[in-house]
Amino acid sequence: MAKHTIVVIPGDGIGPEVVGAARRVMEAAGLSVDWVELPAGATAVEQGFENVLPARTLAAIQAHKVALKGPVTTPVGKGFTSVNVQLRKKLNLYAAVRPVRSLPGVKTLYDNVNMIIIRENTEGLYSGIENEVIPGVVTSLKVATELACTRIARFAFRYATKQHRKKITVFHKANIMKMTDGLFLNCSRRIYEEEYPNIEYEEVIIDAGCMKIVQDPTRIDVLLMENLYGDVVSDLCAGLVGGLGVVPGSNIGDEAAVFEAVHGSAPDIAGKGVANPLACIMSGVMMLRHVHEDAIALRIEKAYDEVLAEGKNLTRDLGGSAGTNQFTDAVIGKLK
Ligand code: NAI
Repeated sequence: MAKHTIVVIPGDGIGPEVVGAARRVMEAAGLSVDWVELPAGATAVEQGFENVLPARTLAAIQAHKVALKGPVTTPVGKGFTSVNVQLRKKLNLYAAVRPVRSLPGVKTLYDNVNMIIIRENTEGLYSGIENEVIPGVVTSLKVATELACTRIARFAFRYATKQHRKKITVFHKANIMKMTDGLFLNCSRRIYEEEYPNIEYEEVIIDAGCMKIVQDPTRIDVLLMENLYGDVVSDLCAGLVGGLGVVPGSNIGDEAAVFEAVHGSAPDIAGKGVANPLACIMSGVMMLRHVHEDAIALRIEKAYDEVLAEGKNLTRDLGGSAGTNQFTDAVIGKLK
């Protein structure tokens, strides 16, 4: 088996706990790997690096092309630009992919959710171009380019085709943001009409779309959105299948890919050993498929599905009392 070199960023808050768990599971499942561990976030500064996204960390991802990342803390309303936004822009990780599916043994309103959220990751309101016009009046610039809108639309249709998905739904607000969301919509529609006419395609105004999702999430197959909408709606959808502890994610570009859970650094439970590591383990599974270790990915997936279905070692967010390590050990115990 080929040995992989994978960059690992523990991150802040619960990051080191959940990333450590994911590493343990992948190694126990037989992954042959050299981890290149480097910091990002507040931890990087505490360790004496020059800033929250050290040049060494960025260079390592550029060199090795794949990273597993823990969440990092971002100050609200002041301070440095989000490490995640910087990473996505600097590495051109233009597509965020977040599969949301109902899990065995995790009781929620619905038991048959199975959707993929694809979010444009580099522009929109997250361009971070904000200005004070005069005291008391500030603006934030929403950027949409034909290049990025076309690129994410093509990515979504290609991804949907590969995953044998049937339908793409685009959420938008082009009735109000006629130019920016209008461009996003036009690019999506063009890729559909010119390149993927065999996939079903629909456009839904986002506010009504959110209502429809909570009424019946099974009507969504692949959901395509610009940056801010994708950020918000993926947390909403996480709530449909058991919360932030169970939804994985990836940030994909043409040159590199960074895998990370949807959740943040959860300062309220950091260091207590109670975080659910599943979302990070699932992100690891997505990473394994990306590096063509499908057999190991499947082994892990079956193991955690079994632990969840059994229900004896659930973490607190899923109604159980297991700690991070107990859950991780249970998953390792089920590896076949
Ligand atoms: P959060 O996702 O960290 O936490 C929201 C709630 O969910 C909290 O009650 C937390 O305890 C719970 N939670 C999250 N992950 C969990 C897990 N694995 N197991 C059990 N419970 C879990 O969101 P919040 O509080 O809005 O953000 C905290 C920090 O994280 C902020 O600085 C934010 O900027 C950052 N953040 C970083 C992300 C990243 O690095 N990818 C993504 C989202 C937020």
